[in-house]
Amino acid sequence: MSVSADPSSTSWIDRDAAVVWHGFTQMSAYAGNAPIIVDRAQGRELIAVDGRRYLDAISSLWVTTLGHHVPELDAAVRDQLDKVAHSTMLGNGNTVTIELAEALAPRVPVDQPHFLFASDGAAAVEQALKIAFQFWSNQGVSGRTRYLALGGAYHGDTIGAISLGAGGFGTDVFDPLRFSALRAPGYDDPAWADGAVALIEAHAHELAAMVLEPLVQGAAGMQITDPASVGRVVEAAQRHDVLVIVDEVATGFGRTGTLFASEQCGIRGDLLCIGKGISGGYLPLAATVASGRVFDAFLGPDLSERTFYHGHSYSGNGLACAVALRHLELVDEWDVLANVRARAAQLDALLTERVAALAAVAAVRQRGLMTGVELAPPADGLRWGRRVCAGAVERGVLLRPLGDVVVLMPMLTCTAEEIDRIVTVLIEAIDDVGTTGTDAPGGAPA
Ligand SMILES: Cc1ncc(COP(=O)(O)O)c(C=O)c1O
Repeated sequence: MSVSADPSSTSWIDRDAAVVWHGFTQMSAYAGNAPIIVDRAQGRELIAVDGRRYLDAISSLWVTTLGHHVPELDAAVRDQLDKVAHSTMLGNGNTVTIELAEALAPRVPVDQPHFLFASDGAAAVEQALKIAFQFWSNQGVSGRTRYLALGGAYHGDTIGAISLGAGGFGTDVFDPLRFSALRAPGYDDPAWADGAVALIEAHAHELAAMVLEPLVQGAAGMQITDPASVGRVVEAAQRHDVLVIVDEVATGFGRTGTLFASEQCGIRGDLLCIGKGISGGYLPLAATVASGRVFDAFLGPDLSERTFYHGHSYSGNGLACAVALRHLELVDEWDVLANVRARAAQLDALLTERVAALAAVAAVRQRGLMTGVELAPPADGLRWGRRVCAGAVERGVLLRPLGDVVVLMPMLTCTAEEIDRIVTVLIEAIDDVGTTGTDAPGGAPA
């Protein structure tokens, strides 16, 4: 059944297209691509306006961890509403924000951490790169003004973040606005770490910082590297006194099987960016976590130039911090990371056995519950990624591709049955395009 065939869906889609502008979406094609309009949710399923249920196998763009409409998380928001929804962090504090920072402090892979809160991952990255820049300036060091980033990198969509990012996704139009970053190879190159270390050694004197996504470059199509390579590059940077910005916006909060991917790599960043799963996917929350050394470089007389003159209106929002605090407790109470590891092993076995060898599949890449299935279309322009995901959506499993890479990002609490279902539906959807081999009308939201 097509969602748009339902009259209530059609009217919602029309209302949506009339007034809403969706990110990364060609609005002239939006309504025709059978978007689902979510009305409510239960557990790991989204329920559309026509009553159809969809297993959310992309965790609502990688943010939802435990589920939608989780009673304990709902209660945390409600309880905080009885206190205060929001009060500014600029020059004043808030009890729940302090409690969240205290709870996170022993868990984040940063020494003597201080938390500068924001609302989105890109803002956390933007804060980090500005902090790294001013860190050197505050100490009277000149010339350390550049950044080293990796091929395939994605750090968000603000101007600083796209400057660190490797481009693509139709963002080349912004090239004139980007500042230039030194670019090492990405994780798709087995020699990336050698290239990164060589650039660090040659350019350390002019580098404010280097930035990387530990273990998985998500938006690059789930490109994977090994923990030792990440450790080697970070060690080289820190040995040359280059600040390391670790972007765990996507990998943080359990996705790779540990609370942070940094733990598997044995690294402790000078600056850590966290977001997405921090609030369990409930409310916009992110943070730039600075080490004691970085933080201390900003201390000085009141109103002095050593101050970090940056801050967002909704920084440290009380509702978001309350749900993030309860979320962190539940990750422990429910032993969520053990489930991630068990379900990741199951997914790995199923993909190896049933998907990797399909003629229509070029590669399967997985770390924890972050997975990319790269399709092998016989020609350009067949939109296999979009069409396979459309086939999955028709079968009640919500997927969204990155080009011709189908992303599987089940929630951390997913069950064995759900993993089975995702793989079965994926194979059926791949079979649809693999056997026809031609382009077809319609498609998934992509
Ligand atoms: C590694 C990484 N950094 C930063 C971001 C940007 O986060 P946001 O979309 O919350 O701005 C993303 C988003 O996918 C990401 O994957």
